[in-house]
Amino acid sequence: MKKSKSDDNLFLEDKAKKELKKLYSEVKKHDGYYYTDHNPKILDSEYDELRRSILKIEKNFPSLILPNSPSFSVGAEPSGKFGKVKHSLPMLSIQNAKSRDEVISWNEGIKNFLMIGDDETFSYVAEPKIDGLSASLLYENGTLKVGATRGNGQLGEDITENIKTIKGVPLNIDKKKAPKILEIRGEVYMSHDNFYSLNNIQIQQGKEPFKNPRNAAAGSLKQLDPKETSKRSLEFFAYAWGDCSSLPFDNHYELMHFFKDLGFPINENFGIFNTIDDLIIFYNDILEKRPDLGYDIDGIVYKINRLDWRERLQSTEHHPRWAIAHKFPAERAVTKIIDVEVQIGRTGVLTPVARLQPVTIGGALISNASLHNFEEVKRKDIRIGDMVWVQRAGDVIPQVISVIKEKRSENIKVINPPSKCPVCGSDTEKEVILSGNMEKEEKYLRCMGGLNCSAQAIERIKHFSSKNAFDIEGLGQKQIDDYFAEKIIKSPVDIFYLEERFKDNPPFFWRYTSGHSGKIGTIKDSALKLFNSIQSKKEVELDRFLFSLGIRHLGLSTASLIANHYKSIEGMLDALSSDNHQILGDLLSLDGVGKKVAISIIDFFLNDEFRSLIYDLIDAGVIVKKFDRNIIETKISNKTVLITGSLESMSRAEAKVKIEILGAKLSSSLSKKTNFLIAGNKPTLSKLQKAKDLGVRIFSEEEWNDFINE
Ligand code: IVH
Repeated sequence: MKKSKSDDNLFLEDKAKKELKKLYSEVKKHDGYYYTDHNPKILDSEYDELRRSILKIEKNFPSLILPNSPSFSVGAEPSGKFGKVKHSLPMLSIQNAKSRDEVISWNEGIKNFLMIGDDETFSYVAEPKIDGLSASLLYENGTLKVGATRGNGQLGEDITENIKTIKGVPLNIDKKKAPKILEIRGEVYMSHDNFYSLNNIQIQQGKEPFKNPRNAAAGSLKQLDPKETSKRSLEFFAYAWGDCSSLPFDNHYELMHFFKDLGFPINENFGIFNTIDDLIIFYNDILEKRPDLGYDIDGIVYKINRLDWRERLQSTEHHPRWAIAHKFPAERAVTKIIDVEVQIGRTGVLTPVARLQPVTIGGALISNASLHNFEEVKRKDIRIGDMVWVQRAGDVIPQVISVIKEKRSENIKVINPPSKCPVCGSDTEKEVILSGNMEKEEKYLRCMGGLNCSAQAIERIKHFSSKNAFDIEGLGQKQIDDYFAEKIIKSPVDIFYLEERFKDNPPFFWRYTSGHSGKIGTIKDSALKLFNSIQSKKEVELDRFLFSLGIRHLGLSTASLIANHYKSIEGMLDALSSDNHQILGDLLSLDGVGKKVAISIIDFFLNDEFRSLIYDLIDAGVIVKKFDRNIIETKISNKTVLITGSLESMSRAEAKVKIEILGAKLSSSLSKKTNFLIAGNKPTLSKLQKAKDLGVRIFSEEEWNDFINE
């Protein structure tokens, strides 16, 4: 019988399907050998041939392409940039302790918070604090679905394909044992051996070596091409978890063993202890082993073992209360000061920086150290040519600790504070500031050139474009230096006119000079990408906008408080338009806003030059959104609560946290502003009476708990 044409097609399609299935599993197998085991079993060219065969079939039979096709995943072409991942539970940092006493006081705080007596057995898990980058790995039904960086704690970057290349990170875990949804958190790091070999390659290729293993790990993890990441030999330790559908144990220690059982690498140097003394013995033991571990650690993390206690302890905005990192002392070395240069910061502060004879401290090559300010230089009597002790702790800028006076030779040069700014020639001054009720001179010398000083102007633009501000991709420190030198960007406002001004007439560095990927003389893709990124960042939240303006002393979290109070930029411009006591009082009434930052905000908004900057940005198309974040209304939102007497069901600290989580404030004195009074055991009777007189609603402890739990 003669076959019809469609029979032929069906036959071919069926064959293609079988072939594709075989190729998919073949490529996946070799991906595992290459990316995960770092042990390829075929030549690169043979592997490429497998991928090409897949592409060929997929092109002819698009209906056969499956979502798990290797064409979509590892080994695929770089995506150009990382997507964003919202962490379902924030990735926080850890509070630090520098001494045994600080660990003891953390422990006392916890015991008081939980109201636990000395008779109760307390257990802590102690683990090395790995000096790498934290990452989150999300498994759904046993399969690794998303790998993300910490980012700003709320939003991270989607680095799934890069994470998949890390040795030891399981791509699949036992579905029967693992919770349906399991988010493992841990540290990505680079061993000392891999760090040294990578730096050798960097140097051979004429590239800058990495400063330390942590930076090398960061640079490697953020490679846009996962194939590059896979060459960098990163490693991973699991030490925590995020959002999970269930957990089979109620304590950290057993969970760590469970994660190990599921196939996650954990740091085996950990233990469970019952007393602070035992924690300190463990700390000293690991400190001794530190040089032989083969990777960087910068302290020991102590964690409360019981999860129900952790739940009650909760977290602050920055860190969980149930963990503390007992830091190791910084590492030190001796070297020589070759020269001292002066750097000018965003707000005009002059910082002397020592150029050092390069020296290795804790695995990192150090050639610069901050001298902070000229008073510090004088106090430590640091001179050019001196031999000094230099210290490095993690990613902190290395510091000069002290001069070795015995080694001082004749040829040294005293460092004098400059009376003129070395960049713009304006006078330098020390400002007089308020300290308590006293006026005193600032420690820092400032350049009085303001925005006329090019160093200050550049630093302002860098700050404006940085991650927590406008976060403009393609406008990093180096590009800003270049564009400023070419007078293309002289102020943050210029950023928003770049496309209009230069799209049709690009300057030389935005034009193709060889025809490799575009026509000679036409605008480069990178410039178009930059314009797109600027376009997409024009709309900004009020707190980010305030932060980006570079107002002295104003960090992002205070900016959020201010934004929540004024709600809109128009509201702020309006409220902060005349200098009177009410404005200061208004700002100071916000919890978390101190005098220094309040005065600095007022100074900024009353300065014509800075006000114009705001108006010019809006004219240039910047849209500052009304602030309406995190304002979940509860029965006690924005209310003020007072407690009198002692509580039975919880400590005052725990009560405070509960009150704050629900959006209210615990105050320490009774006034017209008080909304609720909780009368505990042995309340102050005069307070009760006064509250009644003021019409404040009074609760017993039980009534209060019922009220807020309703
Ligand atoms: S516990 C935040 N355990 O240290 C509480 N963190 O400086 C959950 N880190 O962001 C983390 N080693 O990236 C924990 N054994 C360890 C750690 C560790 C390193 C990192 C982590 C955290 C940072 C804080």
